[in-house]
Parts: sequence; C-alpha cells; structure tokens
Amino acid sequence: MFASRARGLRMSGIRKMFEMAGSDAINLGLGEPDFQPPASVLEAMVKAVAEGYNKYGPTGGLPALKQALAEKHSSVADITEENVLITVGGTEALFLTMQTFIDPGDEVLVPDPGFVLFAPHVRLAGGEPVFYPLLEEAGFLPRTGDLQSLLTPRTKAIIVCNPSNPTGSVMGKGEVEAVSSFAEDHDLILVSDEVYDSIVYERGHHSFLGMVENHVYINSFSKFLSMTGWRLGYLIAPAEYVRTMAKVHYFMVACPPTPAQHAVLHGLPQLHDYVDEMVAEFRRRRDHIVRRLNDVPGFRCLLPGGAFYAFPSYEYPVSSEDLAVRLLKAGVMCSPGSAFGKGGERHLRFSYANSLENIDRGMDIVVSVVQHLSGLGSN
Ligand SMILES: Cc1ncc(COP(=O)(O)O)c(C=O)c1O
Repeated sequence: MFASRARGLRMSGIRKMFEMAGSDAINLGLGEPDFQPPASVLEAMVKAVAEGYNKYGPTGGLPALKQALAEKHSSVADITEENVLITVGGTEALFLTMQTFIDPGDEVLVPDPGFVLFAPHVRLAGGEPVFYPLLEEAGFLPRTGDLQSLLTPRTKAIIVCNPSNPTGSVMGKGEVEAVSSFAEDHDLILVSDEVYDSIVYERGHHSFLGMVENHVYINSFSKFLSMTGWRLGYLIAPAEYVRTMAKVHYFMVACPPTPAQHAVLHGLPQLHDYVDEMVAEFRRRRDHIVRRLNDVPGFRCLLPGGAFYAFPSYEYPVSSEDLAVRLLKAGVMCSPGSAFGKGGERHLRFSYANSLENIDRGMDIVVSVVQHLSGLGSN
C-alpha cells in the first residue's frame, strides 16, 4: 500500500526516546532551547495577528525580511534579496535542497555522526548518503583525507553542519577553508547547515558564506530565537538556485508562515542582549555538564565549542540505545549516539537546554546507573 520511500523510513532515535518517556523524566534529550522568544518578538507576533497578517504571503518570503537577512550577512558575502528564500524552518530548507538538486543515483557526503534528517532527506530524493566520519580523536571535525577517499564520479554534494549537532564541535577558519576547497575542486554543491551559528563559545563562528560559488547556506530562527514551534528558517544561495528552489518550495508549502515573519522582522534589530544572555547561560551549563560527565567513571566528554549538546563516549559493553533506555527508566532522557549514525555508537547526546538543577539531578542518575554497569566490566 505504501510507497517504498515511506516504507523505508524509520522513526528517529530521538523521537523514540521522547515517546517512551514518562512526564516526570528529566529531559536532556530534545534539541530545543528552554527559553521563550524575546519579548519584542512576542509582542510583534501578537500585533501581526491582531492586524490581520494571517493570510498567505509571497512564496519566497516577505521582501523586507529577505532584505534584512541579506544585510545581516552582507559583511561576509555579496548577498541581495534575490539570494534569500524564507522557509518553513531549517527542516524544509534541507529537504528542499535535496529535492532540488539530487537525482536517483547521486551520492551525497553526509557527516557521521550527523543530524538525524540529513541521510533520510538524501534517500527521500532518491540519492545515496555516503557517510564521512567525525571522530572523537579528531575533535569531531571533518578531515579532507576521509572526504577524498569517499569521492566517486556520482558524488554530487556534501553536507556540513557547523556548529555540529550532535557533537557540539565547531569548525575553525582552517577547516572551513579546507572543506570549501575540497567542494570547489570536485565541483560539488556545498550545503552548510549553520542553524547553531549564534550559539558558539570560545572559537567564534566561521561561516561557509562567501567561500564557494555552488553553495546552499541554511539557517533557522528556531534555536537563535527559541521559536522552534513557529517554523521559520531561511537559505542563501546563488540567485539562479533560489529561483528553481522557490518553485519546488511553492509546491511543498505554498509560502512560509506570515505572522512569524512579521514578528521576526520587527524583532531582528534589537536582539544582541537576548542572544548574549542566552549564550552566557548555555556556557555556564556546558561547563557544568562537561565537568560532571568527565567525573562519571568510564565516561569521556570533549568540551563542545557550540550548540547546546554534550556528546560523551563511554567504555561499557552496552549499546547506546540500551544505555539510553536504562537511563530513561531511571528518570533521565538523553539520545543514544546511534540515532545519529553508526559513528555515534558508544556515545550519548545530552542536551543542556535545561536548568542547572535538572542537569545535576540528571547527572546523579547517570552516576547511579553506571555503577550498576560497572559489574559488566569495561572494554
Ligand atoms: C543541525 C540542525 N539543522 C536543522 C534543524 C532544523 O531546525 P528547524 O526546522 O526547527 O529550523 C535542527 C533542529 O534540531 C538541527 O539541529
């Protein structure tokens, strides 16, 4: 009855945990900020709805919002309104990119571990994901030697995620330049998912914008403004790309949500303090959770440079799904590393988008569950 593309889909390992969780489990599983959007944006949303902005809008998004985003990014690249398309979250932007560029048989280089949508989106377009490793010993950063070894005549595109979900790693200028040259040398479309660009700690954010011609840059307001439920994102690409993508986008969603666009447009100029406070709070939590994780016997956690995830490895002979289920039964929800690909096995992803107090309670549970595992020995 169902099409093979639908039959082939498996539920994401993150959602699976969420659906198993009781209402009192401490949630260190889901990837969404525990803050609310800035007050100015909330007010603008209420105003937009009251003033009647409840109708379809332009397919590609409000021209004024596209203009504001082009200006926001103009310091790193020559961008105009024609290069911007407003989407239904980063999710639609990613899906749309694969639908527009990938034909059956095309191969796409995808990070492993990597965000749960990347590989299914490639497959839904008929393509083949080819996984490149992000190894803990390499700081979870891509290495061009690995990328080279996976190239075939069918390689069409590469997806990068900076900062990374699930590892929290942040690419420096050198890595951004190396991956960009690799993409350019092999005539690949570079798709950069930069939805966590505002949540970076020590290293700052180096964007792929302006680095290569054949580039689709993806961003979102979900994490930046804590509005995951409003479903608003955008992409930046050559005007020729945007024109074709806008057609596909029209047949998928008609247009992005109108009231949310008005709200963001009005809020955009005054967001510095909001973002600074959010990042300061995430930094406090990151330092705390990483310290606590490294104190758990058999656990090792690198200091993530961005996003709000800690991605420790562990030495016990149990799968990450088994360990995540044990933790969930004991009262704390996290995501098994295997949800992000084979390379995520023997890791767990903890989201620290929760209070310090809940992080502490969660870590106490991890310590007690791991004590029981110690009888199994480590390897
Ligand atoms: C790396 C990454 N890209 C894209 C998204 C999609 O976000 P949204 O569709 O809410 O913009 C997420 C959400 O978790 C993410 O982690």
